[in-house]
Amino acid sequence: MGNWPGFVQLKEVGPRDGLQNEKAFISTDDKVAWIDMLSNSGVQEIEYSSFVNPKWIPALKDAKEVGKRITRNPAVRYSALVPNMKGLENALEAGIDGASVFMSASETHNLKNINKSISGTYPVLKEVIEAAKQEGKRVTGYVSTVFDCPYEGRIAPDQVMRVLNQLIAYGVDDISLGDTIGSAVPSQVEMLLDAIITRFPKEKIIMHFHDTRGMAIANIMTSLNYGITRFDTSIGGLGGCPYAPGAAGNVATNDVLYLLHGLGIKTGIQDKKIQDASIFIQNKLGKKLPSRSLAYVEGTA
Ligand code: HMG
Ligand code: MG
Repeated sequence: MGNWPGFVQLKEVGPRDGLQNEKAFISTDDKVAWIDMLSNSGVQEIEYSSFVNPKWIPALKDAKEVGKRITRNPAVRYSALVPNMKGLENALEAGIDGASVFMSASETHNLKNINKSISGTYPVLKEVIEAAKQEGKRVTGYVSTVFDCPYEGRIAPDQVMRVLNQLIAYGVDDISLGDTIGSAVPSQVEMLLDAIITRFPKEKIIMHFHDTRGMAIANIMTSLNYGITRFDTSIGGLGGCPYAPGAAGNVATNDVLYLLHGLGIKTGIQDKKIQDASIFIQNKLGKKLPSRSLAYVEGTA
């Protein structure tokens, strides 16, 4: 029996990471209704949209309206992706509790994703982090391609540490480590966590696994063994980064709940509410979501 934590915190990224990769535009009314369902599921944080350039991510062009119209549950932290000061301005107007800044450990993915070199991204994020903190917002720093890059291949932990050290120096409250293309195996997770947890409190580390090759649950188990208690998940397994070719969605909230609740770990989240919200968005998208737990519950597994 492992020495599991009593409680694990999941951040629901479906409305952001999930929808950003969808060609179908989910109407603002439907997004709001769906996020309201998630707000009542017991989840503690929802990344509700993204304040990036709408030309780059048209599926989330209504971020401001969504932020203004959702019914806020005081027990939930509402965060959003923010790439620069223009994004922060819009996000503050729409209402956020937390700003998620993001960059990549790989030079090529960073350039493809946010149109800047790594060194050119630092001053932009420094300004955003400082301004968001001044507004009293919590800031999460995402680092993408921490294991493998779709353009450059294997990324060394040292490369990740360089980016992390900068974000930490700028004052992020926590960091989310992205397996952007869902390629990592547990030994890679161990190698990275070995390098990080001696230098950054593990309570502030969030693991963000995409599930392209079905390794996410194994990687979550490995992270739990390292004492990591925070994960990003996406309802039904929806998602992917449009600037990381071939990447599938995040690990499904449904599947992670099945694992955690089965291990006797509390999350505060009600499975049934997550199922209902999964079926709602699945119907709106008109296609089956990849979560196997969801398919089992629906009787289509
Ligand atoms: P850029 O084109 O280099 O920006 O984009 P720019 O500063 O040169 O400005 C060009 C135009 O964009 C201007 O408009 C700006 O006003 C506008 P114009 O004068 O031409 O009409 N603009 C904006 N408009 C609205 N909101 C903004 C904004 N910023 C500039 N915030 C930028 C730079 C970063 C904005 C762009 O590259 C972009 O939007 N990239 C986003 C890509 C993205 O969202 N990728 C997916 C999310 S990351 C991810 O999924 C990974 C993650 O899940 C972790 C993991 O899995 O590893 C987080
Ligand atoms: Mg992602």
